[in-house]
Amino acid sequence: MSTRFAAQGYSLPHPPHRLPVLGDIVGVDPRTPIQDSTALAARLGPMFERQILGRRFVFASGADVVGELCDEKRFEKFLPPGVESLRDIGADGLFTAYNHEPNWRRAHDLLRPAFTAGAMRGYHRIMVEVADDLIEHWERLSRNSSPTDVSSDMTKLTLETIGRTGFSYSFDSFASVETHPFVSAMVGALTYNQRRSLLSVPAFARPLFARSDRRYSRNKQYLAEVLADVVRTRRQSTGDFTDLLQIMMDAARDVDNPNALSEANIGYQILTFLIAGHETTSGALSFALYYLATHPEVFERARAEVDEVWGTGSPEFGQVPKLRYVRRVLDESLRLWPTVPAFGRAARAQTVIGDGYRMDAGDWAVVLVTALHRDPVWGDHPGEFDPDNFLPERIKARPAHVYKPFGTGERACIGRQFAIHEAVLVLGTILQRFDLRADPSYRLRIQERLTMMPSEFRVTPSTRR
Ligand code: HEM
Repeated sequence: MSTRFAAQGYSLPHPPHRLPVLGDIVGVDPRTPIQDSTALAARLGPMFERQILGRRFVFASGADVVGELCDEKRFEKFLPPGVESLRDIGADGLFTAYNHEPNWRRAHDLLRPAFTAGAMRGYHRIMVEVADDLIEHWERLSRNSSPTDVSSDMTKLTLETIGRTGFSYSFDSFASVETHPFVSAMVGALTYNQRRSLLSVPAFARPLFARSDRRYSRNKQYLAEVLADVVRTRRQSTGDFTDLLQIMMDAARDVDNPNALSEANIGYQILTFLIAGHETTSGALSFALYYLATHPEVFERARAEVDEVWGTGSPEFGQVPKLRYVRRVLDESLRLWPTVPAFGRAARAQTVIGDGYRMDAGDWAVVLVTALHRDPVWGDHPGEFDPDNFLPERIKARPAHVYKPFGTGERACIGRQFAIHEAVLVLGTILQRFDLRADPSYRLRIQERLTMMPSEFRVTPSTRR
């Protein structure tokens, strides 16, 4: 009998077929499960099983098997334990909704128009304003030759961007040196839930975790307060809003709208967007800046493009997608460090994938994107940073489904265009305005939380002469 995931009606794949299995013997470092599993994928092959703290996980990382798992006719999104545990915060919000929950379709249909390529035009001005806040902050640092933590600044920028574009709500992120308490509460709450999902603690041992349980309650309470403040601020405002919040509030008042969401679900969507809309892009920007700062030839080429396409002014909307090389830098950074490093897929009906691996209806596997992005289809040195991997002719020469930073199918990232426009705009702005000096002794270290971020990577920006 396989373990049932009651809420989703899914099961773990049936006991070992011919997959390499690795047990707990090597131990699992809770701080680096993705990096450890990625290293294992290189040894164990395109599909393997791993016992993590007594639970079985099937990982898929080979281009062929992932190609099959991305076939929407045979497979669908699955919430692995680490993601399912986030339902305590996101419930049936878009990211954590089960496929069968009606609010997923409603929210998807309601909000999709706000994420088309054309809709980005409406966000461009605010994105430029937030990038200007970053410029001001970095110009102050430049005057004192002060280094700054890149992930922390990118988090300020992306939180501010999603807050202002999606909810016309400012966190005033750049007003303080410290990380905004929303971010600390979010990271604390996500990490707590993820660790809890891996570690099954018997009831008698629960008191040992009383302190972290209490901290979690406080974090959750704080997130709820921010959420209430976002809604209260809107209710008290007059003016013509057209953002995500307004779309949801207008629909809720319209009795004929089949996609109207309840007040509770609107709350889950707000939290979902505030979290999914900033943490991921922040990591992507931070990795791209790491590669730019440590690859002078790439930096110069990217800067030459910005100078040619933008000149010295602030970019118009249409000038952002014209930064083709900067876009390749971003794509390549997301290849090496996809900030959402894994996603789950479950079989819709009994099927066989890869080298004869049987999956029954409901069996699930985790696509390990970090390892997929290092598959041999990426050449002989897949670990090396090379933006030209994304030249159009090279993209065409590769099979489909080998590049998956934004997930796949119907449940793929709704914010993809948003993230790309924001990230290219910000990278272009930094290249246009600043030289970056990184500590030459720094070696890339990665912090794994819900997403991945460079850890303690600092640059000293200096205003370009
Ligand atoms: C570089 C930045 C980003 C990356 C790498 C990324 C990655 C992903 C991935 C891999 C998924 C699918 C997860 C799964 O299958 O379980 C996803 C879903 C989602 N993302 Fe993103 N994301 C990014 C930016 C954004 C932004 C900016 C927003 C919002 C403004 C956003 C909102 C969402 C939402 C709501 C979902 C759930 C969609 C659904 O299931 O219908 N993401 N993202």
